[in-house]
Amino acid sequence: MKNALKGRKVSLSQSTMIKVMSPLDANHYGYVHGGAIMRAVDEAAFITGTRHARRNIVTAAMDNMSFANPVRLGDLLILKASVNFVGRTSMEVGVRIEAEDPVTGDNRLIGRAYATMVALDELGKPTFIAPLILETKADKKRNSDAKRRRENRLKLRPKN
Ligand SMILES: CC(C)(COP(=O)(O)OP(=O)(O)OC[C@H]1O[C@@H](n2cnc3c(N)ncnc32)[C@H](O)[C@@H]1OP(=O)(O)O)[C@@H](O)C(=O)NCCC(=O)NCCS
Repeated sequence: MKNALKGRKVSLSQSTMIKVMSPLDANHYGYVHGGAIMRAVDEAAFITGTRHARRNIVTAAMDNMSFANPVRLGDLLILKASVNFVGRTSMEVGVRIEAEDPVTGDNRLIGRAYATMVALDELGKPTFIAPLILETKADKKRNSDAKRRRENRLKLRPKN
């Protein structure tokens, strides 16, 4: 079957999520727990993915994530999410992870994550996602990088 949905621009679903990192997010060394960051990344990808698909979506895969710098308690965790690629029923949402000291304004890149989100219909079956309209040079670059990642990801997809 062909996807008859109308395309949607990348900019329509981009989002920035900002969270204050509190002691509830801490590991026993006094820094932010990696798991707290991963949860926030999944939330940011969910927000942007849902705004693009306007459907219920689930996370099918999350590419390996690395943390280049620690996040400290009191920092702002800043997650910038954007849809990079849309397939038939899945899409890649890229999330840029930054930390900012709210007093000094010092901003550090923590890492990048790529989530594959799948849209589901009323019966819980994968369903078409609106095609992505690429407008800017950055949109096009992210899209071609995402296509390469998707090929690799699908090779690694577990067989049932
Ligand atoms: C994601 C899910 C709906 C896919 O169902 P499925 O029957 O395997 O569906 P399909 O084989 O038709 O795949 C649907 C799309 O997802 C993509 N996909 C599925 N598993 C994937 C994986 N592990 N990695 C990358 N893409 C994947 C497929 O490539 C396809 O994309 P396309 O339509 O754009 O080409 C199903 O595996 C599921 O419900 N998983 C649990 C999701 C969940 O609960 N997540 C929260 C964490 S527990």
